[in-house]
Amino acid sequence: MPSLTETRTYNRTFEFSSAPAPVVVVFGGTSGIGEAIVRLFATLTKGRVRIIIVGRNKERAEGIIASLPQPPEEDQSVQPDPDSNLPKTGYTFLPCDVTLMGNIHALFQTLTNDMGIARIDYLVLSAGVFGFGGREDTAEGLDVKLASRFYSRWKILEESVPLLEASRSMAQSTEAGRLRGAPGVLSVLGAGQFMGSVDYEDIGMKKGYKGWKAVVQSIAYNDLMVQAFAKRYPGISFTHAYPGAVDSGMLRFEGNLRVLNILTQFLLRPLIRVVMTSTTDCAEWMVYSLLSGSKEVDGVAGGMFRRNNRGEDIGMDAFPNVEEEEEKLFFEHCMDAVSVRGPREIGSS
Ligand SMILES: NC(=O)c1ccc[n+]([C@@H]2O[C@H](COP(=O)([O-])OP(=O)(O)OC[C@H]3O[C@@H](n4cnc5c(N)ncnc54)[C@H](OP(=O)(O)O)[C@@H]3O)[C@@H](O)[C@H]2O)c1
Repeated sequence: MPSLTETRTYNRTFEFSSAPAPVVVVFGGTSGIGEAIVRLFATLTKGRVRIIIVGRNKERAEGIIASLPQPPEEDQSVQPDPDSNLPKTGYTFLPCDVTLMGNIHALFQTLTNDMGIARIDYLVLSAGVFGFGGREDTAEGLDVKLASRFYSRWKILEESVPLLEASRSMAQSTEAGRLRGAPGVLSVLGAGQFMGSVDYEDIGMKKGYKGWKAVVQSIAYNDLMVQAFAKRYPGISFTHAYPGAVDSGMLRFEGNLRVLNILTQFLLRPLIRVVMTSTTDCAEWMVYSLLSGSKEVDGVAGGMFRRNNRGEDIGMDAFPNVEEEEEKLFFEHCMDAVSVRGPREIGSS
């Protein structure tokens, strides 16, 4: 298990190459772990990077962007991206409520058609809500919490594949790409924390929904997701990581529970600092997990990786029960569930 110091050194000596600058897309980059990952990428590359932050909170995103490092104006080391007419580097916020698959599809249309993004080198999936409440369906008929922690991630991957493949092709054909290695995807949730079993008779939990069960199933679904995509796209690295207990926006309470904010933010703060990881340290381990998956492992770049909160590869520890037929069933269910065909009747499959 790498120490924090080793992890920091690895991240700081990673060869990002700015010929052209890497393209990083962070879903959930407006707060918590995602925000810390945005800040770390901007620092590691000294601003020689294109980062796209996705979330709903425009004000927070603008505040974050205003505080990120800019590359020196006439930096000759940054080359223009051959596939786009965009400025060589920069930070952009794209608003999107990811619980609707149609929104994600529209976002990718904006990315590719309007912004001219032709490649993604690093994709971070950190948008998600915590909560044990009951089922609440979106206009597309998916549960909001499952949509935020899982279906949105599947949809994002489906939409991203051509852009990740473009990065893979660059990794195989250019010096800059070779230095960076395979493109990487990081899903921040709960690798290694799954308990119980996946109910393949009720994928998506339409028949038996319980808040705690939805949390646990989301973890298994993320495992099955990285496995499914890694099998189909071998030149890309797909990592599912557990961040541990992190002192982030997850500890903010809404509505009637707002009074708990006073308790957590003031009274429990000293204790929280001791028992929980800061978002800054967590980002070091998460980025380490993402980057190290992109480098050659036994001569092969890319593949499926599962990492714990200290960046350690946990192999198949606590991987969900799955047979070949179930893998197929799961894949077909997900492709159907995330397909955009206009608002569906709530509760229909
Ligand atoms: N913190 C922990 O201890 C911990 C432990 C295990 C797993 N995790 C998982 O790690 C991930 C990140 O957690 P965090 O602690 O960084 O949480 P956080 O501080 O609450 O940040 C969550 C991020 O998700 C975005 N988001 C939430 N709902 C969204 C929606 N419907 N559409 C678009 N963006 C949405 C938020 O952006 P906007 O507000 O701008 O929409 C925000 O940027 C989550 O999936 C969480 O379940 C966290």
